[in-house]
Amino acid sequence: MDKGVEYLNSRISGVDIAIVLGSGLGELADEYGLLRIPYDEIPGFKKSTIKGHKGQLVLGEIEGKKVLMMQGRYHYYEGYPMKDVTYPIKVFRKLGIKTIILTNAAGAINEDYKPADLMVITDHINMMGMNPLIGKNDDSMGTRFPDMSEIYNKDLINIAQKSADNINIKIQKGVYLAGTGPSYETPAEIRMMRTLGADVVGMSTVPEAIVANWCGMKVLGITCVSNSASGVNGKGKLTHSEVIETANIAKLKFKKFIVEIIKNISSEE
Ligand code: HPA
Repeated sequence: MDKGVEYLNSRISGVDIAIVLGSGLGELADEYGLLRIPYDEIPGFKKSTIKGHKGQLVLGEIEGKKVLMMQGRYHYYEGYPMKDVTYPIKVFRKLGIKTIILTNAAGAINEDYKPADLMVITDHINMMGMNPLIGKNDDSMGTRFPDMSEIYNKDLINIAQKSADNINIKIQKGVYLAGTGPSYETPAEIRMMRTLGADVVGMSTVPEAIVANWCGMKVLGITCVSNSASGVNGKGKLTHSEVIETANIAKLKFKKFIVEIIKNISSEE
């Protein structure tokens, strides 16, 4: 861990906000990137393998703030243990970054949600059957039994709502449920998840959010609804290319939204 932190400290400094870019949402880094650091150059970072994910850290400047973007994340379904999935989050914290925006593409369980909707995450349900904090606790970063009553920071949720109003877009607010994937859900599983109180389902974000909250970061979560989930509103077969295609359609709105949020974070803090 120290080696990764030391290496990044030698290349970057003064980062205000970290952003993890989800499937099909990496363009923000293409557009605002000033410095690119492939994961395989950073001690401790593993290579990321999925289509639509590039696998590099990108330093950029947005609205006068220094942002460090992960273009491509580590997923549990790729076979990485939770400690690798959440390693970058711990490194970000050690770099002194206190605010993180986690983004993802997910399927809508809520029948009122439409593909290309953006949802601000208000809470989550961990159905990965695994917790990233299992194992020896690093007391210097966080406590053994951390509170999770407000993972997604209320001030940041308010800033996100205000930002959406400013740029005239309608957003959803709801609960993100994470499964492991990589198979999509069955219609019966989706009905169960709806009963449990979930609005969208995806395969990421939750481990990162738990670790970020544990080590004292302020977390904002944003979902791009890429599809109706299995069986929802008559939804039949699902493909990864569909997820990427919808993210492509939503990406302009997504970029505008993130930029506006960053602008408002800077003015309010
Ligand atoms: N289910 C799980 N993960 C997803 C989906 C989905 O329908 N869409 C995008 N990621």
